[in-house]
This record gives sequence, C-alpha cells and structure tokens, in this order.
Amino acid sequence: MISQKTIDTVFETARVEEVIGDFVNLKRAGSNFKGLSPFSDERSPSFMVSPAKGIWKDFSTGKGGNSVKFLMEHSQFTYPEAIRYLARKYNIEIEETEQTDAEKAMTDVRESMYLVSEFAAKYFNDVLLNSEEGKAIGYSYFKERGFTNETIKKFNLGYSPETWDALTKEALGKGYKLEFLEGTGLTIPREDRPFDRFKGRVMFPIQSMSGRVLGFGGRILTNDKKAAKYLNSPESEIYHKSKVLYGIYHAKQSIAKQNNCYLVEGYTDVIQFNQAGIENVVASSGTALTPDQIRLINRLTRNITVLFDGDAAGLRASIRGIDLILEEGMNVRVCSFPDGEDPDSFARKNSHEALVSYLEENSKDFIQFKASILMDEAKNDPIKKADLIRDMVASISKIPDRIQREVYIQECARIMDISEQVLVSTLAQLIQKDLADANKKQKQEQKPFEVHRNQPPNAGSFSGGDPEDPRTGPPEGYDYPGDSGYYSQEQNQKVDILYGFERKVIEVLLLYGSVVEDFEDVFLKADEEGNVKEVSEKRQYKVFEKIYLSLQEDEIQLSNVLFQNIYNNLIDFYNQNEVFSLDKYLMRLEPEFAQEVTNILMEDERLTIHNWEGQNIFPKQKSETIEQNVSETIFALRWYLVSAIIAELKNSLLTNPQEDNSETLSMVMDYSKLLNNFSKKLGRVVVPYHYQ
Ligand code: CTP
Ligand code: MN
Repeated sequence: MISQKTIDTVFETARVEEVIGDFVNLKRAGSNFKGLSPFSDERSPSFMVSPAKGIWKDFSTGKGGNSVKFLMEHSQFTYPEAIRYLARKYNIEIEETEQTDAEKAMTDVRESMYLVSEFAAKYFNDVLLNSEEGKAIGYSYFKERGFTNETIKKFNLGYSPETWDALTKEALGKGYKLEFLEGTGLTIPREDRPFDRFKGRVMFPIQSMSGRVLGFGGRILTNDKKAAKYLNSPESEIYHKSKVLYGIYHAKQSIAKQNNCYLVEGYTDVIQFNQAGIENVVASSGTALTPDQIRLINRLTRNITVLFDGDAAGLRASIRGIDLILEEGMNVRVCSFPDGEDPDSFARKNSHEALVSYLEENSKDFIQFKASILMDEAKNDPIKKADLIRDMVASISKIPDRIQREVYIQECARIMDISEQVLVSTLAQLIQKDLADANKKQKQEQKPFEVHRNQPPNAGSFSGGDPEDPRTGPPEGYDYPGDSGYYSQEQNQKVDILYGFERKVIEVLLLYGSVVEDFEDVFLKADEEGNVKEVSEKRQYKVFEKIYLSLQEDEIQLSNVLFQNIYNNLIDFYNQNEVFSLDKYLMRLEPEFAQEVTNILMEDERLTIHNWEGQNIFPKQKSETIEQNVSETIFALRWYLVSAIIAELKNSLLTNPQEDNSETLSMVMDYSKLLNNFSKKLGRVVVPYHYQ
C-alpha cells in the first residue's frame, strides 16, 4: 500500500494542467486552459482545464475530475496506478505502509509469483530470439504465422525448450524459489525431479489490465494427437481464468477511445488483429465470457462486438453465451466471417482497410442477427418456431433498459412475422417471474424520504410519501413494455425539478460550505386553532451546518442516490476539516463523484465555452448574498416536498369521495398554510422554479 503521506505529497505537487498537458495540447484561455477532447473526435475544443480549481471538464462527453481521475479515464489506470504514475512524473519517492505479518506474507507470495512469472516470460522470449532451438523452431513458427518482430516483441512471445526442466533449472539457478514456480504452475511438482509444464511449446504470456504477467498459454508444435494443442497455466493466487481477458493490457486505451470492444476466441486472433492495426480486441480464452470479464470491459465501454468463425457449430455456441452480456446491460453486436475463416486467418489475408470495412459492414445487432439466423432454421416448422420465439424473448428479457426492449420486440415481430402482442405477453410472463425481486430492489433505490403521514405539520417533519409514491419512483408495477409504465411527461418534469433543487443543495455546499453566516432560524408553530405562526431568530452557522441541520430536521434524504452520496461525503469532509478548502476536497475527490461535482463547479465555463476567444468572460452575476442563496435553496426543496404531499392528499380526496375525509382535509389546509409561508419566504428572493 502507498502511504497516505506519499498520496498527500503527490496531490500537493501535481498540477492538473501539467499532467493533462502530456496528453492534450492545451491553450491558455483566460484563467483556464482549453483543448480538444481526448475522449471524442471533436473539431472545436470543449475540453477545459482549471488550474485554479485543479480540475478538468470535458463538455463533449461529460467526464471530469482532478489529475488522478484524468489518468484513470485517459490511460485506464487504477487509482494506485495513477498515484504511482504521478509520483514517477514528479520524482516523489513512494513510501509503502507497514502491513501486518499475514498481509505481508500474502503480498510476498503474490509478489513472488508475479516476479517468477515475469522472469519466465523474459526467459521464454530470450530463448525464442537468441537460442538455436528457439530460432529454428519457435521463431520460425511465428514467422510462418505471419507475426512480425514488432508483434513478437509487443506480446512478449516466447519458446519453451524441448528439455524437461529447462525453465525450472534456469529459475532455481537465478534464486527463484521452487515454491513459486510450482505455485504458478510453471513447474509441475514431483519429489525427485520437478519438471516444466510447457516443454516444447511456443508461449503466449497472459497479462493483467496493468501489464503484469499472470500466466501463460502454450501451443504445441507437433502433430501429437494425444497432447492438447493449447495448454494454459492453472488457476493460482495471481491467475484467475474467469477474471482475465487476453489482450486487455494492449486494448484498454483503444477500447475506451473507440467506445467498442471486439471479442475473439483466442491468442492468435488478438495478435493478428493488433498487427492489422485494430487494438480494441480481447479474447476470453476459448470459453463463454464470465460476468467478471464482462465487467472488465464494461469499465471501458458499453459496446461489444463478438466475432466468430464461419462454421455453424461455433456460431450456435457463441449465441448461447451472449445473453449474459445483455444481462450486464451492454449493447451487443456480432460479426461472423466467411466459411472456413476465423478472425486470425481473415485479418492475415486482408489489408487494414479491408478488415475495417468488413467489420463495419458485417457487424449486426445481436438480437436481429439471432432472430434471422434461427428464423432460417425454423421457417416451416411450427414447433421449432415456438421454441424460437421463447428463445428470442428470453434474450430480450435480459436487457435492463425498457425502451430498448420495446424496440427489440418490434424488430423481432417484424423479422419473425408474428404479432407484437404475442411477444409482449410472452415477455410479460418471463418478467413476471422476477417481478417481486426487481420491484423491491427498485423501490429501495428510489425511495425518496420517509413519511409520517398522520403527523400534523410543524416546522419540520413533513417528510415522506408512501412507498408507492409516484412522484419520484416509477409508477406501480414493473416497467415491461405493454405495461403503461413509462413516466408521463408530468412525472418527468417533477423529477427534473427535484433534481434541480437537489443539485443546488450540492452546489451551495461545495461553494460556501465553510462560510459563516447569520441565518434566520424560523419556527412555524400551529396554535390550538390550527393557525400557523412564524417565530424567528437570528443565529450564526456555518453554511454546511445550516444545511445539514435543516435537512435532518425535515428528515430529508436526497432522492438522487449520487447526490445523497456526495452530500454525505461533503458533510463528512466539512466535519473533519476545520478549515475547509475546496482545493483539498477536489484533490481527494472520489472518482465516482468526479463527473457530477465538476459539472456543478464548471457550470460557468460551460456557459462561456463558445465565445471565449478575445472576449472578457464575466462570471454569472450572483447578486444574492450567501445567506439568501442558502436559505432559498433549503426553502425551495422543502417547498417542493410539501407541495408534493398536498398534491397527493388532494388526489386521495378525489379517489375516495365516499369516505370521511375530514382528517385529510384538515391536513391539506395545514400543509397549505405551511406552503404559503414558504412561498412568502421564497418571494423575498428569486423564485427559481414554479411548481404547478
Ligand atoms: N484455442 C485454445 N485451445 C484449443 C484450441 C484453440 O485456447 N485447444 C484458442 C487459442 O487461443 C487460439 C484460438 O483458440 O489462438 C484459435 O484456435 P485455433 O485456430 O485452433 O488455433 P491455432 O493456433 O490458430 O491453430 P491452427 O494453426 O491449427 O489454426
Ligand atoms: Mn487458427
């Protein structure tokens, strides 16, 4: 682990414009810098860097954050990798923290396994290029496959000699321990004479996302029918087959940039594609993708194109694995190659341009592809066709996005020549099965705030709504097509208003959190006759305290989960840091908050982006005092929530006209008075939104 002290030094030293300047051509623009977005192919610059705030914002993609976040987005570094990179850049010595003995032992084991694997890769490569046997057998084989020297170097390909203990002996001689040779599977244990696993094979080192060698694939060169063509390292502390994708280290940047990942079957496909100038390609090592592997890709892009051989058997097998990818919410396209060709052979035979255009022209949306393939098979067979429909609908049901599902239903109905209604009802049946679960989960995520509906309103506790509250969550029931479950225009609008209010809370917290101001503490009290009276008194608060206390008093949780997390994080930060500095907060900004926070903070820059050159940029006029700004924000949010409660109560009056409604009526009256008071308050300052 990198010590906190090192991390602090790194953050204090790194200048955002210098870090980004290594990758993006930045031009000064007022107090900021701007350049072309490295995340999209744009012509006019919308990428902004603010040295004063230490953050950047890419207005073309919405990404943003501090130096570390830039490296994570741009170079696909993990957090520690980004810190290490910056330490190197600024010549900061990295101090590692003390670990417990058990931790140390575990790190040592893993580290030793990495080291011996890296040694082995180097050894195999060395043998391939420099030994007589390696050159004659291994190197010439790769040449025959059409691999260039550059490719051999890039993928660190190698050759393991035809001697039973060549690597084992070499490694032991260099001081590597047998324990780790065996642990990584490079050596197969045997009391008297431990021997090499990969004897007489050409070697493909398998690298992690950050480039460390985790294991190997070895291809046999003889036509020995008994021996497996490819042999792989066994599972170990450092090699988990289901979590690794071959080629990911070389592909990650290109995947993010192209916003697409090609998935192929094996080592040679990946390598041949790279050599043909297509780098955004990975292999799953012969099996269907695992959820962990999909998530690895998901970090880089939501789009995946599965490539498979021309033969029908491979095709069917691939189709089966693909539902899993849909389930992760990814967009899947597929592309097959002409009969008898695999990605490797096809890439080898064609130029870069021909390959690119083949992929472009032949990649099809998976669902459409599957429907048309299966349709061909089932054409005149009603039983098969019924199976096919179920099969298709099962695939569609995996897609998390409702609108996308609907589009697919229409598409499939057309391709399979069947009514949409049949597909919709089959889909409904399938979805019904997970209905309870999905519903519950969704409710938990979207639950806005707790309610005590029967409590008379006082200054604060008007939180809540019932769990079926239509204001924030989706309407009742699950949202499959055919259900009337789309947000209505009106609901959408309400959600947007609430979003705006909640965002404002975060903005005010970020900008003025530690400022001390005089606030009017307002108490609203209902006397015996039900008249609401206002009692007020001035008191000093830090802005964050005022906001915190107000929201807490009202038991308000922000309905937007991300905002609520940022809110908690900010409040913690203010509590822990007597003197709050925004710089400090931004340095440490959690990567998952970066986008939203920079959005809020760089709002002014966004507004001025298009008329920058040669103009004086004036910040947005913020005429209100901080106190007004904060109070208004809090009132606006409370006002909105009370309005919503009134609307709901009125609605229940309408739907239950027969019942004795006197209690509900009086609640409506009370809440309305409260609302009037808020309106009066808000009337003194600018009213930002109108709630109808
Ligand atoms: N593969 C594998 N295990 C096997 C066969 C294949 O892991 N038993 C993977 C390898 O990663 C290989 C890819 O699938 O790169 C393509 O398979 P194949 O064409 O059979 O391998 P090649 O080495 O290209 O063999 P050939 O020269 O016979 O085409
Ligand atoms: Mn092949």
